[in-house]
Amino acid sequence: MSATVNDLKTPASGDFFASVTDLVREDMASVDRCIRSGLYSDVPLINQISDYIVGGGGKRLRPALHLLCAQAVGYRGEHHIKLAAIIEFIHTATLLHDDVVDESELRRGKDTANAVWGNAASVLVGDFLYSRAFQMMVEVDQMPVMQILSDTTNTIAEGEVMQLLNQGNPDTDEARYLAVIRCKTAKLFEAAAELAGVIGGVSEPVQRGLANYGMHLGLAFQLADDMLDYAGDTRELGKNLGDDLAEGKPTLPLIHVLREGNEQQRTLVRNAIENDGLQDLNLVIQAIKDTQALDYTRERALAEAQMARASLDCLAPGPAKDGLITLTELAVSRRS
Ligand code: IPE
Ligand code: IPE
Ligand code: MG
Ligand code: MG
Repeated sequence: MSATVNDLKTPASGDFFASVTDLVREDMASVDRCIRSGLYSDVPLINQISDYIVGGGGKRLRPALHLLCAQAVGYRGEHHIKLAAIIEFIHTATLLHDDVVDESELRRGKDTANAVWGNAASVLVGDFLYSRAFQMMVEVDQMPVMQILSDTTNTIAEGEVMQLLNQGNPDTDEARYLAVIRCKTAKLFEAAAELAGVIGGVSEPVQRGLANYGMHLGLAFQLADDMLDYAGDTRELGKNLGDDLAEGKPTLPLIHVLREGNEQQRTLVRNAIENDGLQDLNLVIQAIKDTQALDYTRERALAEAQMARASLDCLAPGPAKDGLITLTELAVSRRS
């Protein structure tokens, strides 16, 4: 399992994690069916928008993570399929809302739903997906599952609001930034992994190990996302670069320049954050390069990936565990 980024890279972003998702291929097909049937509504606009965003692909990383963890703990039931679909619904709802908040125009290689149907429709269909996720959770009928998913959804919302408060503020420090990405992104990864332990009836230390794995993996994944926003390729990523700068988001690459840069670089980045300075994108990218800000961010991502890997010590060896280890590498080396 030593595939390199280039071995795995294909035009379809969904194939990027293929070496890992192959381990749960049949379950992924069941999740896809569950997602499609779960999207149904009598309101045509809901079907149209949800089909558009879900049909637009996406890596389906969180469902794969949940299924792999379920496999790793030897789970034999059926709940993992529905839970994986629920997790993807929550993720998709956050993306619909996030693209409105971030005023993003490209997602999964297509115009965002807000660009096509407007902000109101996107927010409302996001609400539909959240509430559909909760209807499906009730069908699973396990209080600890409800507890984790309701806490998670609430934490994601807190993370997005915390991020809003940091927006335009160049004094945001690394700790504050980490608190945001832990809430807005890592929490759902944590839930995806931990829930497999819950339905699998594992011991408390194994459940904690899985939760920690998911949390560190999610942090690594978002750190990589914040690098890719400055250094990725729009076609591979399916998103526009520079969205974070356009919104005055103080992500780690910028925080690093503000800490390590010379006076000119610091002034440039301060102004760009305060004034949503997309017009200075090229100069900001130069400052990011000159201060090795992406190297620093990658090191932080690799450290989280390493902690994720170490958290897997609680699992018995096997292909599912190997797949989870590979995910820690792909979360950082990904280009899409
Ligand atoms: C995008 O997540 C949001 C972040 C947490 C960075 P993904 O990169 O998993 O998005 P899709 O589902 O593959 O489009
Ligand atoms: C992740 O942050 C958003 C959520 C977890 C909802 P970003 O704003 O960086 O995600 P992208 O880059 O738009 O996918
Ligand atoms: Mg965004
Ligand atoms: Mg991003």
